Amino acid sequence: MTGAEELKAVAILVPADFTGHAADRIEGTFRRIGIERADAALVTDEMRRTVRGIASFAGINATMMDALPNLELIASFGVGYDSVEVGHAAANNIMVTNTPDVLTEEVADTAIGLLINTVRDLPRAEAWLRDGSWARKGNYPLSRLTLRTRRVGIFGMGRIGQAIARRLEAFGLPVSYHNRRPVEGLSYPYHPTLKSLAEAVDTLISVAPGSASTQKAVNAEILAALGANGVFVNIGRGSTVDEEALAAALADGTIAAAGLDVFANEPNVPRALLDAANASLLPHVGSASEHTRRAMADLCVDNLVSWFTERRALTPVPETINVKAPA
Ligand code: NAP
Ligand code: 8YV
Repeated sequence: MTGAEELKAVAILVPADFTGHAADRIEGTFRRIGIERADAALVTDEMRRTVRGIASFAGINATMMDALPNLELIASFGVGYDSVEVGHAAANNIMVTNTPDVLTEEVADTAIGLLINTVRDLPRAEAWLRDGSWARKGNYPLSRLTLRTRRVGIFGMGRIGQAIARRLEAFGLPVSYHNRRPVEGLSYPYHPTLKSLAEAVDTLISVAPGSASTQKAVNAEILAALGANGVFVNIGRGSTVDEEALAAALADGTIAAAGLDVFANEPNVPRALLDAANASLLPHVGSASEHTRRAMADLCVDNLVSWFTERRALTPVPETINVKAPA
């Protein structure tokens, strides 16, 4: 067990983008060492000798891990940890933690908001009011699409996927899903492939993690299967989508509309998607309320505190579940 004074001697590396509540808590509890960004080229001799933990917002690669030989734990901010090279961490006995559950309901709320914005064109209707068009030109045109009669497929029926499904049930919409394996005890129809899910529905919501197995999974074939009345919403990761194929499908009517909170190369959004009138776009705000980001920050720092006091992580990612704290 480590007392508060001993904890104050533990050096935690905090990249500059990691500001706010989490950074303040780290400052008050540990010896906080700032770095401009998580880049091995910026690691000093002192960091190399002393750093035992990293609080990470933007991702940690293998080179960065190798530059810190005393690194025990990477506390990643966010539930998705595709930007951390977890295989390398596991192979080097480095624990990686994430922030599941505390953001689930917020992200599900955002997904539903984005779905309705996409289908009913609400952001443009508001712009019509604000720019005086309502008074000048009359009522905003009727939306071509509706949520009514839609059948929704969820790609990635995990914590957030199930929270989205619960909301859709209340909307009276049938839900089915695709994961690599069916979820035990879940009664929504399961599809063993993404293609068969896309063929069975007209509304596809992706909340799958970014990984080698999901890379560009939503491609031209899946969008064609979704069909001309199809709506695609992505609240998971941009890397799961072939963005070029998506822009083409929006332009040529292969699908009707898309709502996107995440992109392959954030914060850069392809011109073709910015120009698509039938796309509703958000700047990765799924979890972005003060309330939820504070809960994520607390869980991120609680993992650091637990590791350096109790020698156990609260929310380890599955790939590093067997990593043990050094004696
Ligand atoms: P989760 O509980 O781990 O759920 C992920 C689901 O995806 C699991 O059911 C998993 O089932 C499925 N899956 C994984 N790989 C798959 C594959 N190759 N093919 C088909 N299904 C696959 O995670 P969560 O808490 O719901 O979060 C999901 C993701 O949402 C995060 O990883 C993150 O990328 C994203 N996210 C985005 C925001 C935002 O701000 N937009 C906020 C939070 C999270 P199987 O393992 O059985 O396949
Ligand atoms: C965060 C997210 O915006 O949790 C996730 O996976 O995508 C969002 O909640 C992001 O992780 C912050 O880096």
